[in-house]
Amino acid sequence: MCSFAVVSATEAQTQEIGRILGQVLQSPALILLQGDLGAGKTVLARGIARGLGVEMQIPITSPTFTLMNHYSARLELYHFDLYRLSDPDELIELGFDDYAHGSGVALVEWPEKLERNHVNGLWVSLQRLDENQRELVFVARGAESEKLVIELKDALGSAFSRRDRDPWKATVSQ
Ligand SMILES: Nc1ncnc2c1ncn2[C@@H]1O[C@H](COP(=O)(O)OP(=O)(O)OP(=O)(O)O)[C@@H](O)[C@H]1O
Ligand SMILES: [Mg+2]
Repeated sequence: MCSFAVVSATEAQTQEIGRILGQVLQSPALILLQGDLGAGKTVLARGIARGLGVEMQIPITSPTFTLMNHYSARLELYHFDLYRLSDPDELIELGFDDYAHGSGVALVEWPEKLERNHVNGLWVSLQRLDENQRELVFVARGAESEKLVIELKDALGSAFSRRDRDPWKATVSQ
């Protein structure tokens, strides 16, 4: 399995990590964001959206009540927050599988609600270490995601080495 971890020291860094991931994305992808309430899933999603080219004046907020927000960018972006999903049948009504395996990028907060733990895609788990530090673990499931994880690790590695000074303290490890 292909994986690596990053520690982010601030909200801005998590958003920057997301932005770099968004820039790396060149083809359809399914990205599953796991983590407790307040872990930083939406912050990361906001960065991914910016990296895909969603304009700064368009707010990226959690689609908690609508379950899905759609943004047009370099690739179409479908941002799901399944926290309030009460019945898996709602996924069918939403057309989830078409978005998840379609021509755009699908981001999913609370993928536990899918009840499909082994779905292929880029799994990101965010863990709160303290008030401002978050550990982000990127795990690839499936060949397409492995390629993405390798490209992301390279891109983050060079971004970090360029910004080797404060306030950029994020570190990449295997
Ligand atoms: N390093 C960090 N990275 C991300 N967020 C951080 C960091 N440090 C502090 N925060 C704060 O943590 C919160 C993360 O909120 P966010 O909405 O992204 O969480 P979430 O995982 O999407 O939660 P939910 O499950 O409620 O949707 C924000 O208030 C943010 O300011
Ligand atoms: Mg959220």
